[in-house]
Amino acid sequence: MLLSSILLGALAGSAAALGTEKFTEPKTGFTVTGYISSPYSFGVALPQTPGQDFIGVVVGTKANGYVGTSLGGPMLNALLLVVWPNGQKVLASLRKTANYGTPAIATGSFSLSTIEKGTYVNSTHFTYTFLCKSCLQGDGLTFSPTEASAVLGFAISKAAPVTKSSVTTSFPKHDQQGNYQLDMTQATTASYASYAALANVTKLAVGFEFEA
Ligand SMILES: *[C@@H]1O[C@H](CO)[C@@H](O)[C@H](O)[C@H]1NC(C)=O
Ligand SMILES: *[C@@H]1O[C@H](CO)[C@@H](O)[C@H](O)[C@H]1NC(C)=O
Repeated sequence: MLLSSILLGALAGSAAALGTEKFTEPKTGFTVTGYISSPYSFGVALPQTPGQDFIGVVVGTKANGYVGTSLGGPMLNALLLVVWPNGQKVLASLRKTANYGTPAIATGSFSLSTIEKGTYVNSTHFTYTFLCKSCLQGDGLTFSPTEASAVLGFAISKAAPVTKSSVTTSFPKHDQQGNYQLDMTQATTASYASYAALANVTKLAVGFEFEA
């Protein structure tokens, strides 16, 4: 327990040095603020007066079976977004768990609405672009949209989900995990309403065109 808090502190501290970067998802043109790495990137766009909703972009490389994001930082007792490719589809699932192991489907007032235009698999990556509605509830479950030093977590697995065609699948344990720090005050954009207007698919598994 003590060791894991020390490790978490150390990871969060070193991640702070990475700073907060902006990237533009090429298909939607959405500019998001976040953590850019390979094989995993995560970006956020917020309205100028933030509430509980945000626009997110998750990018993973196809060498990986799934990528997970902890919106609250740690794996336990936080809202987790797991994203993976299945052939020409991208699937996403909100999970939560009090114990290590496959997290259960998260239940609550939050929901995902997929932005189909920014959700696809190409020859190298899979990308999931979404509106997370009523998600930012704070209290350890998620970051707060006004936090200048929000700590988020990531998990990356080479192995695919057990039943990758199903949003209720269980998962093998990830091979890599860590934390990063984002300045959410930089994620606000005057374009938020036009981004959110593209969220038109409430089902979680979506098809997309394949780009070779
Ligand atoms: C959602 O919007 C995109 C354009 O952004 C469109 O191509 C797609 O057909 C729409 N999907 C649904 C289910 O309305
Ligand atoms: C695939 O999509 C990712 C994410 O948008 C992008 O960074 C990458 O350049 C694309 N790869 C190709 C080969 O187009």
